[in-house]
Amino acid sequence: MSVIREVKQRLGIMELVSEYVTLQKAGRNFKGLCPFHSEKHPSFFVFPEQQTWHCFGACGTGGDVFSFIMKKEGIDFGQALRLLAQREGIAVGPLEAPARAAPEGEEELFRLNEAAAEYYHHLLLSAKAGEAARSYLARRKVTPETIKEFRLGFSPDTWETAKNYLLDKGYEGKELLGAGLILEKEGGGSYDRFRNRLMFPICDIQGRVTGFGARALDDSLPKYMNSPQTSVFDKSSILYGIDKAKSSIRKKSAVIIVEGYTDVLTAHQHGWQNVVGSMGTSLTEKQVGLVKGLTNNITLALDADLAGEEATLRGRAILAHSNAEAEVILLPSGKDPDEVIREDAALWRKLVEQATPILDFVFQSVISKVDINKAKDKSLAVQKLLPSIREIKDPVQKLHYLQKLARELRIEESTIRAALREDKAAGRSPKLDRPVEQSRLARGLGSSPIEEHCLALLLQYPELRALAGGLSVEDFECTENREVFAKCQYSSDVSGLETELDASLREHLCCLVGRVFPPGIGESEGTRRSELGYCILRLKEKSYRKLETEKETILEVEREKGGISSELSKLQEQGIGSAQQLREVFEKKGKRQWIQPREKA
Ligand code: UTP
Ligand code: MN
Repeated sequence: MSVIREVKQRLGIMELVSEYVTLQKAGRNFKGLCPFHSEKHPSFFVFPEQQTWHCFGACGTGGDVFSFIMKKEGIDFGQALRLLAQREGIAVGPLEAPARAAPEGEEELFRLNEAAAEYYHHLLLSAKAGEAARSYLARRKVTPETIKEFRLGFSPDTWETAKNYLLDKGYEGKELLGAGLILEKEGGGSYDRFRNRLMFPICDIQGRVTGFGARALDDSLPKYMNSPQTSVFDKSSILYGIDKAKSSIRKKSAVIIVEGYTDVLTAHQHGWQNVVGSMGTSLTEKQVGLVKGLTNNITLALDADLAGEEATLRGRAILAHSNAEAEVILLPSGKDPDEVIREDAALWRKLVEQATPILDFVFQSVISKVDINKAKDKSLAVQKLLPSIREIKDPVQKLHYLQKLARELRIEESTIRAALREDKAAGRSPKLDRPVEQSRLARGLGSSPIEEHCLALLLQYPELRALAGGLSVEDFECTENREVFAKCQYSSDVSGLETELDASLREHLCCLVGRVFPPGIGESEGTRRSELGYCILRLKEKSYRKLETEKETILEVEREKGGISSELSKLQEQGIGSAQQLREVFEKKGKRQWIQPREKA
């Protein structure tokens, strides 16, 4: 099975989305406030049966687990695939490295990054242009000692200064590109990636510069820019500050993991040298592995608003490592460690001292949300907590939490044990545990035959592409199909398309290109055209069906769009087929009836 399918099969849309959105039931589906735009009334829906989501509000877009995380994290498909695969413990095969990754090997990359870090640092310390950055740091009470220790820097507000400096030093353009220090212009030439930003060199545990985080000096967006992934920079396997924190972590036999660069700076400046930063991403197993070489005592500082879900998610990465103990610090709402430490150092100390074991915290947050007098709620709580309990390696601790669960939910311990065994008997590995609210069967393999059929037509008969103008990327819900469709609009031949696509999608592309059609379809240009028309209608129909399921919210939208009948007339205008023809094909093939055009109110 391809990694793409495996991710979809293991990670349900409900599980992923509910980490970001508080969902409530709406008929067979769920709704909540859209995480992508601000709104007062929920127009964001999750469709568990189809394993898709859709925002009927300002975004007007939707998709599957991949498109959700791509949009949420601002990453591309390849990054999303790796992120989710890693999260689910699925090995991503040796995909080709990104085209721009370090052509010259790691040593050269480290040397180049080192030179760049020195250069930015020098500008911050002494250049006239660095004045604004210096006063920014002074305003934020970052001391000169901290600036030196972390070798903070400043990238000038020019397009080619850093590039020219490094070229003068003897580095090649190719290397700069590979390190992500410069970007290529469309019409040729290149320019500095980091401009007018405060530079945070990000080092590995040995103190070698792997890449940079770069903060805007004002409110401009993005707030932070980071180096792209290279053979030495992989955000998910590095912790910011680990090189400076390691000896303190060993000495105290404890590490505190915060989110941000500035949280790390402030902590160190205030004597908390055992603090490292996860750089805004969810803690990964690789990151846990990195600190586990130093200590088993891990404390996570969590944002109060997200804490419940976060703890569950991050806790899993920790629990998956045998013996790693973890505790949670709950920050006051709306504050990060940087603010807490600066404003009230005593409070921070207290929070650290009173940290809660992560499982107690997860228990607390799950149980506080259910009504234990209701049978349904009880079983939901068991489903949510059982996977974490199973990850516990130490038998004494495991027993402790089993008993705790029984006590708090007022259930017989034997019942919970039976549930635990049942899951085991069903052959589920710990990583496969999912709340039962998602139907495993319905999730299938996360593929969409109609989308694939349509793409196969477009790929194998390129002349049809001119007729697919009515289709948009939004009509494809599977991200792998969406990617192929988006790119196939720009590449006329398959080999061109192949180089455009993320390496993980090549296998999928091959399947589509090699797909054999049922007899009759490829016969003549006419049959191919109506086949495409049929596909387009089915794809459109899918969206309209969705609109139908949430009538109240959506009726307006539907009226505006004019329903399937307007799609039909569009297809006719494009000469894809006559109304009669399309209708016939549609009714013969579709298991469902043709949707009658709705009456307009
Ligand atoms: P925050 O938005 O909490 O920033 O993101 P911060 O560290 O508190 O920064 P200040 O105090 O506003 O200056 C937390 C971390 O998430 C990553 C960075 O590592 C950041 O430190 N991040 C955030 C990004 O990589 N990109 C972004 O656009 C935002
Ligand atoms: Mn901050």
